[in-house]
Amino acid sequence: MTEHDQSATDNGTEENNIENTKEKYIRKIRSFVKREGRMTKRQQTAIDDLWPTMGVDYQEQQIDFTELFGNANPVVLEIGFGMGKSLIEMAKNAPEKNFLGIEVHGPGVGACLADAGEAGVTNLRVMNHDAVEVLEFMIPDQSLSTFQLYFPDPWHKARHHKRRIVQPAFIENMRPKLAIGGVIHMATDWENYAEHMLEVLQAATDFKNISSEGDYAPRPDWRPLTKFESRGHRLGHGVWDLLFERIS
Ligand SMILES: C[S@@+](CC[C@H](N)C(=O)[O-])C[C@H]1O[C@@H](n2cnc3c(N)ncnc32)[C@H](O)[C@@H]1O
Repeated sequence: MTEHDQSATDNGTEENNIENTKEKYIRKIRSFVKREGRMTKRQQTAIDDLWPTMGVDYQEQQIDFTELFGNANPVVLEIGFGMGKSLIEMAKNAPEKNFLGIEVHGPGVGACLADAGEAGVTNLRVMNHDAVEVLEFMIPDQSLSTFQLYFPDPWHKARHHKRRIVQPAFIENMRPKLAIGGVIHMATDWENYAEHMLEVLQAATDFKNISSEGDYAPRPDWRPLTKFESRGHRLGHGVWDLLFERIS
């Protein structure tokens, strides 16, 4: 069974994944719950056809981006691209950059590959794995020009806030991966999560807020609307973009 088959058939019922090690249980807090999701035929076909050229398997070995993309263009990393529509649009609009998208939801990866194939996008690679682990083991230091995280799961109940992906330790792990001058770009439609993101980024070392207001930024025109953002608009939510540059 491949990693993709696995993610399509996993049962997403556990609140916390408990991993049994030889001597003890370690409770891992994850930012997602694996949803049982059936691949459509289109998604499965896209995975079968395009994974060999566009998919990157998880392994505890650093990626050589120049080899992966066949050029040394700047690399943009996106975590949690959902069905991938906005990521594909960004990749299409910026052929001078390379894009690596990471998503745990198998059908989303299939949908992204299907659309990318139809769009003829060549500067995009995708992974189907927990981005926290990919970041730790596979992304070389100073290899990213941009890190983007759009509409991450808000985990809005206070008792679930620990599951939010944006935490001081997460930013600390992200920091060395960004080149100096590289940018973290986040967006959310939950005001309380936006406040948390701002607090975490302001407290992080080596970052400067590049919003002229000193807090949030207007949506840059190069960030397309995402699926969750459109849903948020329908529900009357606001949107908060945050842009921080690594300065040293
Ligand atoms: C609320 S959705 C937003 C999707 C998309 N960015 C959008 O705006 O439409 C959050 C996505 O992040 C993914 N996700 C959450 N934690 C993740 C992780 N640690 N690694 C990879 N993907 C993750 C989820 O599977 C989900 O598809």
